[in-house]
Amino acid sequence: MDGSEERLDAYLRQQERKELLRFITCGSVDDGKSTLIGRLLYEGKMLFEDQLASLKTESAKVGTQGGELDFALLVDGLAAEREQGITIDVAYRFFATDKRKFIVADTPGHEQYTRNMATGASTADLAIILGDVHRSRDLLTQTRRHTYICSMLGIRKLVLAVNKMDLVGYDQAVFSAYTAKYMAFARQLGIEEVACIPISALLGDNVVAPSPLMPWYHGPALLPYLETVEIAPQDEKRPFRMPVQWVNRPNADFRGYAGTIVSGTVREDDRVKVLPSEQEAIVKRIVTADGNLPAAISGQAVTLVLDRDIDVSRGDLFCDHGHSVPVADQIVARLLWMAPDEMLPGRTYLIKVGATTTEVTVTSLKHRININTLEHTAAKTLALNEIGVCNLSLSKAIPFAPYAESRELGSFILIDRVSNQTVGMGLLDFPLRRATNIHWQELDVSRESRASQKGQKAAVVWFTGLSGSGKSTIAVALEKRLFSLGRHSYILDGDNVRHGLNRDLGFTDADRVENIRRVAEVARLMADAGLVVIVSFISPFRSERRMARELIGQGEFIEIFVDTPLEVCEARDPKGLYRKARMGQIPNFTGISSVYEAPENPEIRLDTGAQSVEQSVEQLIAYLNDNGSLKA
Ligand code: ADX
Repeated sequence: MDGSEERLDAYLRQQERKELLRFITCGSVDDGKSTLIGRLLYEGKMLFEDQLASLKTESAKVGTQGGELDFALLVDGLAAEREQGITIDVAYRFFATDKRKFIVADTPGHEQYTRNMATGASTADLAIILGDVHRSRDLLTQTRRHTYICSMLGIRKLVLAVNKMDLVGYDQAVFSAYTAKYMAFARQLGIEEVACIPISALLGDNVVAPSPLMPWYHGPALLPYLETVEIAPQDEKRPFRMPVQWVNRPNADFRGYAGTIVSGTVREDDRVKVLPSEQEAIVKRIVTADGNLPAAISGQAVTLVLDRDIDVSRGDLFCDHGHSVPVADQIVARLLWMAPDEMLPGRTYLIKVGATTTEVTVTSLKHRININTLEHTAAKTLALNEIGVCNLSLSKAIPFAPYAESRELGSFILIDRVSNQTVGMGLLDFPLRRATNIHWQELDVSRESRASQKGQKAAVVWFTGLSGSGKSTIAVALEKRLFSLGRHSYILDGDNVRHGLNRDLGFTDADRVENIRRVAEVARLMADAGLVVIVSFISPFRSERRMARELIGQGEFIEIFVDTPLEVCEARDPKGLYRKARMGQIPNFTGISSVYEAPENPEIRLDTGAQSVEQSVEQLIAYLNDNGSLKA
């Protein structure tokens, strides 16, 4: 609202007492979404005169039909959007009528930007799904996907706005056929309540007032519908929940726990429970920026002071002591993948649930959901915009609530650890029981004592590099040397392990991730047994080498980059594999048709062009001596 902030403030204050409806609009490119939102904003009198004036001049420049205001111009504010003709971000807009105020999340329709749509949908009470009967009388995959995501995110009220009725002669038969198809699809999703409204966003038919051109339609126009549709009851009646954002300890006398209440009400003297520790305490004070309160409700940011000292940290959850939530590290979830690179089961991502961020892997993808038929199909990965049901394994147990009960505590995002990008979002459904039934068995003999009995320290010497780079040759020579020095060691070689433990795995990205996950786990067990473990795997991905490093532990994990250029490996071609790969006989061959991500900070880089195998072994022995791995 450039230059209009004060007026906006005054306007919002005046609107404060009215009921609020949050909704989103979902449509494909060209469905007329921007035009519709622009018209609602205009009719809602939310436009200020300066914006109206600039809209008039812009429309004159673009040359819209008959001097009409081009409402799309109002919404498609971003230059990039206009150049590409697509909407690319979520924009929240306010408008109000005499009856209600509205926040509309304007979400993009272009395939790539499903993530924005899902973001907008996660806070909406209602969704308007725009259909374009002029473009297609069948339901587009987009329309089905938008509907699916809305239902998955718990939006109970849908409006199907059947747009461009003006271009199909305001024909009732077209409307009826289209809505019948849509309702059949919606019913499969268990959606009962859909208001189907025939409109022309461009000409305004049935947007604000009933259109005389469609006398056969007896329902409400869109805006009156939005003004009167029932809104779900407020959150303060649900059980109290508040994730801890931070522990506030300005001095030794004060300790409070700050956060935003996501549901329910908390009062002084209430008994609350903190998860995951399950300790209980009484609320002594509810502190806010405006002083102490006797009670606080959902949506308020508060600091709770308790009657006793209990162990609480960031990411813990306060709840009503009688209404707890599950705490688990193995959770069944629905996942929408939003990155161009496919999802890889076994890879470590970060998961953010409420105020908690921790590591997670998708341990198994149970099935993918076909958006058109809603069928479940077997799948190994998820591609951009695909939805699947999977098991998540978190690095620690967290409190959560099924999404059906709580949007705040039941939804999550996944973040790629290398790029820091949000790559997925989803809903937590229920904890897997096995999580609570397996306990860590404490062993009496420690890993240190096992190693020192052998007169050494455990280590994992991890070789990475292209096929034919010389990893295995150097690894074998290193082991010989260690053996002659009386050390206890073992080699895990990619080709060998793939004959047994990993014989079920091929060379797709997903299989390589699993290959490395398993060998890292085995290497860790062997290091626990006190051995110097030599791993010789291409291990092409940074993400999995990092996972191995973290699993085994800094200090014990020594990454050796066998840095032999592709041309040299290919010229050597010891197994004739490069030749076959070049002829197209081996798919996904590392360096040719599958990536190798070189290490950025390996402990040791071996330049096999400049040094002999013996020299490389000497370099490694010197390193192991220096860092104490060869001493007891
Ligand atoms: S990794 O990428 O998953 O770490 P790994 O080290 O286990 O690979 O196996 C690599 C070995 O498998 C190579 O040395 C080569 O002998 C053989 N191989 C067969 N097909 C491929 C392929 N498509 N890409 C790379 N190596 C392959």
